[in-house]
Amino acid sequence: MNTILDKLKSKIPIGLYHLIKAKFFNVKFPHAVQFNITFKCNQRCVYCGIYKDNRSEMTTEQICRMIDEFVGLGTSRLSITGGEPLLRKDLPAVIHYARKQGLFVSLATNGSLVAEQIDGLKDVNSMNLTLDGPELIHDQQRGKGNFKKVIHAIELIKQKGIPVYVVSVATKNNCARIPEVLELARALEIKALIQPVFFSEQSHANNIEGYADTRYDDKAMIETLDYLVKLKEEGDPSIMLSKRYYMNVKKSIASGVKIRCLNAGSLFCTVSPDGRVAPCNLLVRDLRWLNGNEVGFRKAFMDIAEVNCGGCISSFLDIDDLYSLKPDIVWNYYKHYMKLLT
Ligand SMILES: C[S@@+](CC[C@H](N)C(=O)[O-])C[C@H]1O[C@@H](n2cnc3c(N)ncnc32)[C@H](O)[C@@H]1O
Ligand code: SF4
Repeated sequence: MNTILDKLKSKIPIGLYHLIKAKFFNVKFPHAVQFNITFKCNQRCVYCGIYKDNRSEMTTEQICRMIDEFVGLGTSRLSITGGEPLLRKDLPAVIHYARKQGLFVSLATNGSLVAEQIDGLKDVNSMNLTLDGPELIHDQQRGKGNFKKVIHAIELIKQKGIPVYVVSVATKNNCARIPEVLELARALEIKALIQPVFFSEQSHANNIEGYADTRYDDKAMIETLDYLVKLKEEGDPSIMLSKRYYMNVKKSIASGVKIRCLNAGSLFCTVSPDGRVAPCNLLVRDLRWLNGNEVGFRKAFMDIAEVNCGGCISSFLDIDDLYSLKPDIVWNYYKHYMKLLT
């Protein structure tokens, strides 16, 4: 086995090598880290409640020290999210530092501050911006005036040559209008990651009233999921998530059974602004996780025991299937993410 792995090492990216090795030997290591650099936000999207969590935030130095620890443990990918990450004035410095340490850095943003900060974002490897639909729907879910800002931001990012895609949250307002969301993405010549709205007490999705206002009718959402599955079967290049994901979500909505990840807390994890290390972003606000800024990231990560969550329908399920190396998911990932970056 070791000889095969040694041969593989010289032929594939080192991150992928570490991942395959970890799978074969059933070893735990943080291949990808999602980092919520802040929970503060300048928007009040109807389905999100993250800005209500006003915990403390690590300093730039503390973040850089933690990045060193990620790298020491073999991390390849760092996804910076929030809250709204562009509210942190040190974001360019953090991105720059992470890139210098060899990490692939992606950034999730609502787009509202991109125009004034675009020069500081030049080092990111990829960006995703939330676009929930045509102007009326986007602004209804994410605040008046924000549609124009996000479209302008996407255009600027494209001009800078940074790979970009959109994330769309399907709710009762827009689930019948997903074809329009896709049309919009196609007109912008970018891909779309579409996932249904969900509620999770321990995450950004903890706005119970907002969730009640946007929760879809099951039958309508199932029709939308069928539509997405059909487009995937036809090979539509604009939909990023896999056919398996949409079929699983449909099964989950139809039967009420939530699906659980297998690799959260063992191959990927999420760090909160104060440094707590959670297995995934849907559990990031839970105070039971150790604080890596206090005890060290390694200990906090290694200490994550088996995750006993209630399951979810978020797009993390697709990432989880990727880490399970399911061939259809690896192929979908290659087609839609890798090609975005090449
Ligand atoms: C928490 S935001 C952080 C990044 C940035 N502020 C933004 O809005 O893109 C990350 C993603 O989670 C999505 N999101 C927030 N609440 C959600 C919910 N209840 N269900 C599904 N997605 C949700 C947002 O729309 C966004 O695409
Ligand atoms: S979804 Fe993003 S932009 Fe909207 S309130 Fe939440 S963190 Fe802010």
